[in-house]
Amino acid sequence: MIDFDRIPAHVAVIMDGNGRWAQSRNLPHMAGHNAGMLALKEIVKASSTMGVQYLTVYAFSTENWKRSMEEVSGIFKLLVLYIEKELKELHENNVKVKILGDYEKLPKDAVKSLQRSLETTKDNSGLQFNIALNYGGRDEILRSVKKLAMEVEAGKLKAEEITEETIVKYLYTAGIPDPDMIIRTSGEMRLSNYLLWQSAYSEFIFTDVFWPDFSKKEYEKTIEIFQNRKRRFGGR
Ligand code: IPE
Ligand code: IPE
Ligand code: MG
Repeated sequence: MIDFDRIPAHVAVIMDGNGRWAQSRNLPHMAGHNAGMLALKEIVKASSTMGVQYLTVYAFSTENWKRSMEEVSGIFKLLVLYIEKELKELHENNVKVKILGDYEKLPKDAVKSLQRSLETTKDNSGLQFNIALNYGGRDEILRSVKKLAMEVEAGKLKAEEITEETIVKYLYTAGIPDPDMIIRTSGEMRLSNYLLWQSAYSEFIFTDVFWPDFSKKEYEKTIEIFQNRKRRFGGR
């Protein structure tokens, strides 16, 4: 049973296995992404109801550009569709959308609908739904380090004044607490460049379920596993 008094504040998810889900059904890869979108809908809703404060999902990595043009543009088309279909409901449910990553490099129509979702939901106070898009943990740290170096160059900051806090200030996740748990579906056990800085003390939960099959029930199971972990943060 889930203890509703101890719901993780920040859940991060690596939504993996869309391709294998489709393959196992003899469907095209895009059908897997499509089904994945439906799973995402359910998990956003469940997060809201359970009282998760931040849900961060990995939707497109800086490495995912290596895929075929067809797949990459298919994913972005699906993203636009998702926002068109879901924005109204997200807004009604008081969800605040945020994007982590260099999303302005996405196709123009995707950037536009993303900006619309940010603008529409900016004053909402419910679940914060962070979508990692064209996101890479190394890229994120690199950007922060460059900004700090520029401040040092301009004489605005001394090298010895660089702290963990100044680095964090320039991460995409500035102001967001570190994820309490990171779920990865599809049996893969790696971070794939996700939240490298922020995952220092996150609990990792791996499940063999492919992302399109990740239901509310599966989600609740992972939260139960999380609640049975003993977190020490280096202490006794
Ligand atoms: C995850 O599913 C979604 C994205 C990376 C966009 P995959 O497309 O990676 O599915 P698999 O890993 O090939 O099964
Ligand atoms: C990680 O999945 C990225 C997303 C889920 C968006 P990948 O499928 O791209 O990761 P690798 O290539 O298996 O490490
Ligand atoms: Mg994958």
